[in-house]
Amino acid sequence: MKVWFAPLEGATDAIFRRVHHACFTGVEKYYIPFVSPTQNLLFTSRELRAIAPEENEGVPAVPQLLGKDPDQLLWAIGELKNMGYGEVNLNLGCPSGTVTAKGKGSGLLREKDSLRRVLDGVYEKTLLPLSVKTRIGFADPEEWPALLEILRQYPMAELIIHPRTRKDFYKGPLHPQTFALAAEQVSCPLVYNGDLFTAQDCRDIAAQYPQLRAVMIGRGLMANPAMAQTLCGGEALTADALRRFHDMLCEAYGRLYPANQVHSRVREVMKYAACCFEDAARPRKAIRKAKDLAEHHQAVDWLLRDFRLRENPGYEPDSWIV
Ligand SMILES: Cc1cc2nc3c(=O)[nH]c(=O)nc-3n(C[C@H](O)[C@H](O)[C@H](O)COP(=O)(O)O)c2cc1C
Repeated sequence: MKVWFAPLEGATDAIFRRVHHACFTGVEKYYIPFVSPTQNLLFTSRELRAIAPEENEGVPAVPQLLGKDPDQLLWAIGELKNMGYGEVNLNLGCPSGTVTAKGKGSGLLREKDSLRRVLDGVYEKTLLPLSVKTRIGFADPEEWPALLEILRQYPMAELIIHPRTRKDFYKGPLHPQTFALAAEQVSCPLVYNGDLFTAQDCRDIAAQYPQLRAVMIGRGLMANPAMAQTLCGGEALTADALRRFHDMLCEAYGRLYPANQVHSRVREVMKYAACCFEDAARPRKAIRKAKDLAEHHQAVDWLLRDFRLRENPGYEPDSWIV
């Protein structure tokens, strides 16, 4: 089974991707959280830290663009081609209010004329194969058949579908029938994304849709960083592997950031990973409450030393994390 790592703004940054790729096998593509070209036709230094080839050395990374102006998007695609990338992804899914208010991300799904204009513009002239990551509507899954009718007209490198509407954000119900409709109607490669929280969830969806090119996993891989490795026949997650991953992240972030920033970044990673342990509410709370890096290390040591990994480790929805 092919596994893509979903882009998670604020979590799967360049350092995270490099360390994950060094520690675990099985992820064939890491989608970079979106960059958003503007009329200046310049990437910000923050964006360059995410997409610069030297930041992604050795990592099979795919950049993602967010925007609604075909010329700006085409400029960015040209720049990414010059950097050596072989494909680009377009974001039609971001549910954030500041993004949709500008008619970008999933905001494009409620303005079909804009959507057609963007897709016409970029697909006519794109210099790289272009895939799309989409939700299935803005407010209602009933919007999907008409959206699909538009999307299927373009030569997409692949179509990644997160079967929720914008209104559902990341917690609302999935709408499996919308993916089934796409599987019937779309001729480009299809990728399923959404609530694949354990390796078993991935096997189930792959069995249901044998034509899938890949599964894209976000929170499941954040919780169990060995999930793709396991799915590809490699070693299941161990506390030692998690320890090594955590310590390498601390070291790599420590080379760039002050201790308080290292702490907030690795806390984010460990709050997901704590989902993989049995009855681990107490160390999980200790990770959440740790005031500094020293307290964080104590809480992580406690978790890894005294708690057992669950049978089928993965993400568990919780009020503390998305
Ligand atoms: C904190 C966070 C940040 C995200 N950032 C992005 C992003 O930059 N681009 C994108 O296409 N999706 C983004 N997503 C959506 C994920 O890529 C993915 O579609 C979503 O988490 C559902 O997959 P999952 O259930 O496997 O986590 C983000 C999701 C979360 C929770």
